[in-house]
Amino acid sequence: MGSVSYGLEGKVVLVTGGSRGIGLEIAGRLLQEKAKVVICARKKEGLDGAVSLLGGGENLLAVPAHVAKEEDVEKLFDAAVGRYGTLDVLINNMGMNLLTPSLVDTEPAAWNKILESNLTGTFLCSRRAASIMKEKKTGKIVSISSVAGTRAAPGMGVYGIAKAGIEMLTKVLAAELAPFNIQVNAVAPGMVRTDFSKPFWSNEAFYEQMVRAIPAGRIAEPADVVHPVLFLCSELAGFITGQTIMVDGGASAV
Ligand SMILES: NC(=O)c1ccc[n+]([C@@H]2O[C@H](COP(=O)([O-])OP(=O)(O)OC[C@H]3O[C@@H](n4cnc5c(N)ncnc54)[C@H](OP(=O)(O)O)[C@@H]3O)[C@@H](O)[C@H]2O)c1
Repeated sequence: MGSVSYGLEGKVVLVTGGSRGIGLEIAGRLLQEKAKVVICARKKEGLDGAVSLLGGGENLLAVPAHVAKEEDVEKLFDAAVGRYGTLDVLINNMGMNLLTPSLVDTEPAAWNKILESNLTGTFLCSRRAASIMKEKKTGKIVSISSVAGTRAAPGMGVYGIAKAGIEMLTKVLAAELAPFNIQVNAVAPGMVRTDFSKPFWSNEAFYEQMVRAIPAGRIAEPADVVHPVLFLCSELAGFITGQTIMVDGGASAV
C-alpha cells in the first residue's frame, strides 16, 4: 500500500482525535502524503506523544481542544488557519462512548455527554470547516461513524444514536454544500483494534464469538480504515457525496 497516493500533497487536513488509534494512523499516513496535518485531542500528554511518534516537523500542528466546546473549536480552527493559511479537508475522527445500560435506564447526563462529544462536536467542527471551504468553493469533510449507527448493540445505544446522527448530518451537509463543490462523506467501521474497543477484542472468548459474524474472519486494523478515509478525502472521490461506506469485513452484508 506504500506506493498508493491520494494526491494530498500540500493539502491542509485537520484530524480530530489524532493522538491515538485510528486518528493517529490517519495523521501518519497524511504526513507520508506530504499533507499539512493538524491534530487535536483533549489531553496534551497524548498529543505530545503523538507528535514525537509522528515526527512531522513543520507539517504537523497539535492543538489541545474538546470538540464539543465551541471556544475550543474556534481556537483549533484559528490555529490551523493561522499556521497553514487555509483548510482543505476536515476528518471528524474523534469518538467516545460510555457503556450505557438499556436506553430507558440511561441517565440524561450520560446521554448528554455522549451526544455532545460525538454529534455536537462533529457539527461544530463541520460548521467551522464549511465556512472556510465555501469561500474557496472546494473542500472535503469525512466523518467516522460506526456499524453501531445502523444496528442496535448492547451498551452502545446512545453512541449508536449519535453515530446515526452523524450519518444524517453527512447527508444534510452533502446536499447543502454540493453547490460549493464540497463533498461530505462518512466511513462506518465495525470493530477496530484500538484502545477504544480493547475491552471487547482483548477478551478471547468474546473475540472468537464476534468474528464468527464477520465474513472476513477478523476485526479491522486501524490501517483498514485509513485508506477508505483518504480515498474520500481525495479528488478521486470528487463525485461521491452524502455516503457512508461500511468498513466491516462484510458483517453488514450477511
Ligand atoms: N475502535 C473501534 O472499534 C471503532 C469502531 C467503529 C467506529 N470507531 C470510531 O472511530 C473513531 C476513532 O476511534 P478510535 O478507536 O481510534 O478511538 P480512541 O483510540 O479512543 O481515540 C480517540 C481519540 O479521540 C480523542 N478524543 C476523545 N474525545 C475527544 C473530544 N471530546 N475532543 C477532542 N478529541 C477527543 C482522544 O484523545 P483524548 O482522550 O485526549 O481527547 C483520542 O485521540 C471514533 O469516531 C470511533 O467512534 C471506532
